[in-house]
Amino acid sequence: LAACGSGSGGSGGDDGKITLGFSQVGSESGWREANTKSIKESAQTAGIDLKFSDAQQKQENQIATIRSYIQQKVDVIAFSPVVVTGWDAVLKEAQAAKIPVVLTDRAVDSDPSLYVSFLGSDFVKEGEAIGDWTLNEYKDATAPVNIVQLEGTVGSAPAIDRKKGFESKIASNPNLKVIASQSGDFTRADGKEVMTAILKANPKIDLLFAHNDDMGIGAIQAIEEAGKKPGADIKIVTIDAVHDGMQALADGKINFIAECSPLLGDQLMDIVKKIKAGQPVEKRIITEETTFTQQQASEALPNRKY
Ligand code: AHR
Repeated sequence: LAACGSGSGGSGGDDGKITLGFSQVGSESGWREANTKSIKESAQTAGIDLKFSDAQQKQENQIATIRSYIQQKVDVIAFSPVVVTGWDAVLKEAQAAKIPVVLTDRAVDSDPSLYVSFLGSDFVKEGEAIGDWTLNEYKDATAPVNIVQLEGTVGSAPAIDRKKGFESKIASNPNLKVIASQSGDFTRADGKEVMTAILKANPKIDLLFAHNDDMGIGAIQAIEEAGKKPGADIKIVTIDAVHDGMQALADGKINFIAECSPLLGDQLMDIVKKIKAGQPVEKRIITEETTFTQQQASEALPNRKY
């Protein structure tokens, strides 16, 4: 589980460069790919020596990587935690070694004194945006609306918070019923497999809410193979707004997307530089995001970076 990197490591490094050890969740989705690219490019532009490791969606890999960054005495550790729980011990080890930790993208349930800053989206708000769309779309419904939810990785902050935000909104209309809710682990393959099984068990599905674009795209394949029309026979709403999701939205196969921006690299490098300069950093930095209709997706696609 070697963390690979470039240039010299160590506190301050021989070349005077700041060394950042970054532990990435994995490469489960288009979002994650764009996020990794953003972090690598921004580190290079900022002149920061990046040590990068992909944990393949396993917490034990992330913990081992963080321990190796502590041993290597990097200047700052940043990571996107695969799940919310189980970080206390390793965060205390980093603190004891006086290495500041920055969370990116996903939250932990540890004491906030164990990390310096948390940069990322408001996942509850994203779920609420999907809930608001759903409330409006079915405001005149007189019969039950059968909803399927494809959840993200079990125990991860985006899966917990998006579900919470969505369900809190739709609770105000008793016609809106979640008839199945299962994890597709944020991957296209699992999205397809889980949706295939759900389609077999449930002849009437009106709406699918997938916690990310990739699971939604996997589900689109399952819906088409079941002889139904995605976006029409079954409406689909997702979160992320990565390229393939936006294309499916513009093509009419997805009905609405709430954005989750993966472009965290520049802000992360600013935080790292401030920490090393002894300047104050905000404890919580929330990423700015929007939502897209089909029309808005067609307009945005030509200039979209990812
Ligand atoms: O933590 C962000 C989520 O993780 C993205 O929505 C999803 O695509 C990714 O896998």
